[in-house]
Amino acid sequence: MKPITEILATMEYGPSPESATDAHAWLDRHQRRFGLFIDNCWSAPAALFVSHNPADGSTLAELTQASAGDIDRAVDAARRAQPEWAALGGHRRARLLYALARLIQKHSRLFAVLETLDNGKPIRETRDIDIPLAARHFYHHAGWAQLLSQEFADYRPVGVVGQIVPWNFPLLMLAWKIAPALACGNTVVFKPAEFTSLSALLFAELCQQAELPAGVVNILTGDGQVGEGIVKHHGIDKLAFTGSTEVGRLIRRATAGSGKKLSLELGGKSPFIVFEDADLDAAAEGLVDSIWFNQGQVCCAGSRLLVQESVEQRFLAKLRARMASLTIGSPLDKSTDIGALVDPVQQRRIEGLVETARNEGCEVWQPPGALPERGCFYPATLITGASSSATVTQTEIFGPVLVAMSFRTPVEAVQLANNTVYGLASCVWTESISLALDIAPQIKAGVVWVNTANQFDASCGFGGYRESGFGREGGREGLLEYLVARAEDARPAAVPGTVSNVVTSDTTASTGIDRTAKHYIGGKQARPDGGYSRRVLGADGTLLGEVAQGNRKDIRNAVEAARKQSGWASASGHSRAQVLYYVAENLAARHAEFTARIRAMTGDAAASREVDASIERLFHYAAWADKYDGAVHQPPAYGITVALNEPIGVIGIICPNEVPLLGLISLVAPALALGNRVIAVPSQVHPLSATDFYQVLDTSDLPGGALNIVTGDADELARVLAGHADVDAVWRHDGSVAGCAEVERLSADTVKRTWVSGGRGRDWFDDAQTSGRIFLAHASQVKNIWIPYGV
Ligand code: NAI
Repeated sequence: MKPITEILATMEYGPSPESATDAHAWLDRHQRRFGLFIDNCWSAPAALFVSHNPADGSTLAELTQASAGDIDRAVDAARRAQPEWAALGGHRRARLLYALARLIQKHSRLFAVLETLDNGKPIRETRDIDIPLAARHFYHHAGWAQLLSQEFADYRPVGVVGQIVPWNFPLLMLAWKIAPALACGNTVVFKPAEFTSLSALLFAELCQQAELPAGVVNILTGDGQVGEGIVKHHGIDKLAFTGSTEVGRLIRRATAGSGKKLSLELGGKSPFIVFEDADLDAAAEGLVDSIWFNQGQVCCAGSRLLVQESVEQRFLAKLRARMASLTIGSPLDKSTDIGALVDPVQQRRIEGLVETARNEGCEVWQPPGALPERGCFYPATLITGASSSATVTQTEIFGPVLVAMSFRTPVEAVQLANNTVYGLASCVWTESISLALDIAPQIKAGVVWVNTANQFDASCGFGGYRESGFGREGGREGLLEYLVARAEDARPAAVPGTVSNVVTSDTTASTGIDRTAKHYIGGKQARPDGGYSRRVLGADGTLLGEVAQGNRKDIRNAVEAARKQSGWASASGHSRAQVLYYVAENLAARHAEFTARIRAMTGDAAASREVDASIERLFHYAAWADKYDGAVHQPPAYGITVALNEPIGVIGIICPNEVPLLGLISLVAPALALGNRVIAVPSQVHPLSATDFYQVLDTSDLPGGALNIVTGDADELARVLAGHADVDAVWRHDGSVAGCAEVERLSADTVKRTWVSGGRGRDWFDDAQTSGRIFLAHASQVKNIWIPYGV
């Protein structure tokens, strides 16, 4: 039998257009002018802008650019509605979400056509993928609303959520955002992208039909200014954004210090890895789904092909043949594979990037054949000969453009795959299950598809590593984005460090004997780079000792040591547990010494209680180290999805001042338990129990570099950690409101995960506030590995 690629290359389909009559009738019923949907009412259309059909440039409708006053009204409506919506209870919310799912299904053809008209994507995709998945999301989350009070008994809704989405999957992104938010008892102010708002407006009508209470869903149309207005609004408790990494950074900076919860789903440059033993025909077909689905305007598009050298030419030949058989044309035609790009602005952007590739000496191949004369079309494109640092290899093109490179060994494949600032998704094609499952955990991406591509389901979390953002949508972990643990409400006001230790010059010079506690880097005590130290005063004002004054270089050394210690991440949970138990045991042996030290520093007469609690907390996280398991999902696709809790990587931790030992251990232990490597900055006021702790570490089998301790000025060290490209997350819990805001602001450059105390402290003796799954969730990120059954 001939391979499928050859058969497909010889097949021709006749035209098979889908009727757009009903969609146009719907637009006509609204006189092709839309206002905003606020508090269950439609505002009069105002400050209009045009929404086009990108396939022919025609005007579809005029939409309202929401004003600042409109944003205020929408947030007010959502605020007023939220308590009652939460009080309605899970079952009543479940019924309403279920009704929305049914209504989406009932109007699925209208949605599909409208989406295709507005976005330019082929009707086959809207009909078979976007709309069914959107309905599935509401069904699935109707189920979560029903189960919430049992499964998340210790949580409450966040409140009012601002949600901003891009134009590539308009209704699907709406469903990903609105369904979990409502299920958890939040109300929403939602903004679709300015190019593609129509399906959101049709959805607003369904909210009315389903009799959703007024103010629960509010829909504001408009451009980035409207988005910015939502982001900065003080009445918003949480923001969920999908879009470009550039705007994601702006949002991170704009929300720094505001206390708003934030999830970002940003760009990608996802690798599609083909090993020599892969079923090459299936892989070629998978690649079509991966990079030419939705004209490549997909954040998780497999835009970088990495193919093993031994099969490179054979695979590229198959691919070119398949590309030549892709039908490009009217999105409403059911036989169209590649429809229109969303807007001429995207077309120009793609043309510009492909031109750059030509100028950089790459080879650009496009199948023969003319493009439609009108409309915003771009052909399937293959770029070869690009270096790993070429613009097209590193930049998200967001179009039907594939960049192909080869590799020789699995090790090189992983290196190339991870050679990007992004980390959204990846595909691994091989017939060897052991190779696939060896590679999948090594790829730094939130999703790995094994022998499949672009699969999504409401039951499986989706979201990025690194500059692809943070937070997950879908799955159990996705719900946590819309919930707050009730224990957080009991947190007391922050206790900022009040004593400013005196910085002195090098004590070696003044006394001849250096008694200054050094840093702890790579498992050894390390002299400070700057040669300065800080005096540590006791509760009664006497001089207790001196510690090193860390600087940028010390942090850089600590990060380097942490990076090198990759073995800690791959050690088994059991091994990590053993080390933590051993640390606890050695701390217990020095109980009296630590009690005396803490008492001298803080004046706390009950310091021994702090040592007891520290030992118990070490036991707590040792216990968790081999139990914080992931999950196996069974989405409707034929196969399973394995959700792994992976460590974040290297975490910088600024510790609290009020309980210097317990604070340090409560934060460091969960991070270590899950395989992270840590750079801890102990309390700048009371650092001596942390420097005493070196001796406990030295006798406890913790591998060098897993935990590094740098003493000094918390603001200065936090700043370096937040700006460091090789630090994956920064936690700041020392009660400095301005310092926490600064960490969040600086983290935007590399889209780091942050976890900050802001103006609230914690009762570090209260287990509910300072231990358990909440801390473990901060110390991990979920990777979903899709493994299909069959051949
Ligand atoms: P964008 O990130 O500018 O727009 C996404 C959404 O954010 C839209 O609703 C927009 O109105 C809103 N927005 C824009 N500026 C904002 C601001 N300052 N504050 C709050 N909201 C704001 O994406 P755009 O301009 O549509 O596309 C540009 C490039 O971004 C694409 O070529 C592609 O590379 C990337 N992109 C990535 C997406 C993804 O899913 N990862 C989706 C869309 C675009």
